[in-house]
Amino acid sequence: MRNTWRLGILAALTTAAIVVAGGARAAEIEGAATLVDAEAGKRVWSQTAGCIRCHGWAGDGTVEGPGFPAGTNLRKVVLDAVALKEIIRCGVPGSAMPSFNRNAYGSLPCFGMTAAQVGQQRPPTGEVSLADTQVDNLVGYLLAKVMNRGPITKEACLDYYGPTNAFCERY
Ligand code: HEC
Repeated sequence: MRNTWRLGILAALTTAAIVVAGGARAAEIEGAATLVDAEAGKRVWSQTAGCIRCHGWAGDGTVEGPGFPAGTNLRKVVLDAVALKEIIRCGVPGSAMPSFNRNAYGSLPCFGMTAAQVGQQRPPTGEVSLADTQVDNLVGYLLAKVMNRGPITKEACLDYYGPTNAFCERY
């Protein structure tokens, strides 16, 4: 069942790739009205939405606390801005990946499905409902620092935690 949705998601979302410059604070992503703020997006990732609880600070799928379902290793995943935005707002049907928009499967179209159509496969509702600007900023951050980045490096760790963090010695 889940794989069926997944195929639908991918088929619906094969749009032009978006490029966000590596270290850029402000970036352009498809579908966003204005330049996105990747630094603000980092705060949504680590604090506001708590993505790191299930995906880990680096997005590698390391759970940051007991009881959280392990999220996908996003460092191995290629998704464009449009796909990311829909997944964040709508969640992943049939999985523990929550939806972070309160209108998902209602006034917000999600993978072409209404609440009735998604039925039992409807993903859990996230603890917060994010504004579209927050989602765009988050997408900018993910594209710049997380998605498809490969194994965690010391550089990535110092970039995230700050240049003098002893925690990063492990990488
Ligand atoms: C409660 C745990 C949890 C939280 C919180 C969470 N995720 Fe997830 N996420 C998951 C799980 C589990 C999956 C795998 C879904 C599946 O089985 O396909 C996933 C999948 C994803 C995917 C799809 C990856 C792919 O290969 O298709 C993206 C992108 C993603 N999460 C981003 C985020 C972002 C960004 C946030 C914060 C706004 C977040 N997640 C918060 C658990 C979580």
